[in-house]
Amino acid sequence: MSTPSHQEALFLEAKQGQWAVRTTELRKPGPGDIVVKVEAAALGGVERKIQAWGILITEYPTILGLDGAGTVVELGEGVTTFVVGDRVTFHGNWDTIAGASYGTFLQYFTGSAQFAVKIPDSISFEAASTVHLGVATAAFSIYNQADSAPSAKYLAPWLPGGRGKYAGKPIVILGGGTSHGQYVTQITGGPVELVYDAVSTAATLPFALALTAPGGNVIVVQFTPEELIAQAQKDGKAVHMVHGVFRTPINHEIGGTLLWKLPELLNSGDIKLGDLLYPNRWEVLPGGLNGIVGGLERMKNDQVSGVKLVVRLQETD
Ligand SMILES: NC(=O)c1ccc[n+]([C@@H]2O[C@H](COP(=O)([O-])OP(=O)(O)OC[C@H]3O[C@@H](n4cnc5c(N)ncnc54)[C@H](OP(=O)(O)O)[C@@H]3O)[C@@H](O)[C@H]2O)c1
Repeated sequence: MSTPSHQEALFLEAKQGQWAVRTTELRKPGPGDIVVKVEAAALGGVERKIQAWGILITEYPTILGLDGAGTVVELGEGVTTFVVGDRVTFHGNWDTIAGASYGTFLQYFTGSAQFAVKIPDSISFEAASTVHLGVATAAFSIYNQADSAPSAKYLAPWLPGGRGKYAGKPIVILGGGTSHGQYVTQITGGPVELVYDAVSTAATLPFALALTAPGGNVIVVQFTPEELIAQAQKDGKAVHMVHGVFRTPINHEIGGTLLWKLPELLNSGDIKLGDLLYPNRWEVLPGGLNGIVGGLERMKNDQVSGVKLVVRLQETD
């Protein structure tokens, strides 16, 4: 398979600056990298927050997007886990320490093979593009056992001894209709030592904190006012802020085990992707890269209900 020298990508040109679809060179793969022809990418909540608030990213211009799926078209030196032609889902490059992103809102993605997973032919690129961030956010915040991880530190159901370990143990999920909240519902196995607030605004946070038993864990998805955290800690409740980025070092170990098991979890239906019957449905936005900004605007205006917005990156208008 040959790759072109140039591609189209959606850039955020500067901190709190303008979005622009423009031509850019493909990146050459380094050792351990793959190049993927991106067929579908899913919109997350964070891209619009980065643009509006100027947070997290310091290197501009930048290409955002954390979720993608497509076909492997080139292998970097030393890659043995994939062959050209493999269908994969992958996580965008986001270096949380350097504040740099080379994400999935482009036509040819170059990044580490470590964060990609093969997908069976039965799973569409659109469905596959909705997996990484949602599953990682849900899973890491509950199951990451690394010492300083922001997590309830339960044993993951895909690790030895984990499956069924918490059957019957209650959990409250506020905002279970959000995209990643639907993954939380799937992987925790029961309906209050653990409260997961998938919205974490003034509409839900006070309930989340009040519902949590002393000694329990509250998982939040947005920055929580210091005074609420201090009060929760005084009451013996731990507050953890989710972090669903595979590349962040604290997530490497749990992320590695999850990615290794992910094809099996998808094939078995333990993790379900959306269609008419299942949660985590998606909606394709028209216009490829040109459709992303309108989609982010809809998310900002609360005009997205129970679906993940997806774009097809090879569409040009
Ligand atoms: N830090 C991280 O690593 C990370 C990762 C992923 C997500 N997040 C954050 O998590 C939040 C959710 O993300 P997402 O992509 O899963 O969301 P999403 O699917 O875009 O969220 C939209 C959904 O939120 C529901 N909702 C809004 N306000 C609600 C309320 N007061 N009570 C109950 N449901 C409410 C809406 O339900 P209705 O349809 O009923 O209106 C809608 O279906 C975002 O703030 C996102 O930035 C953080």
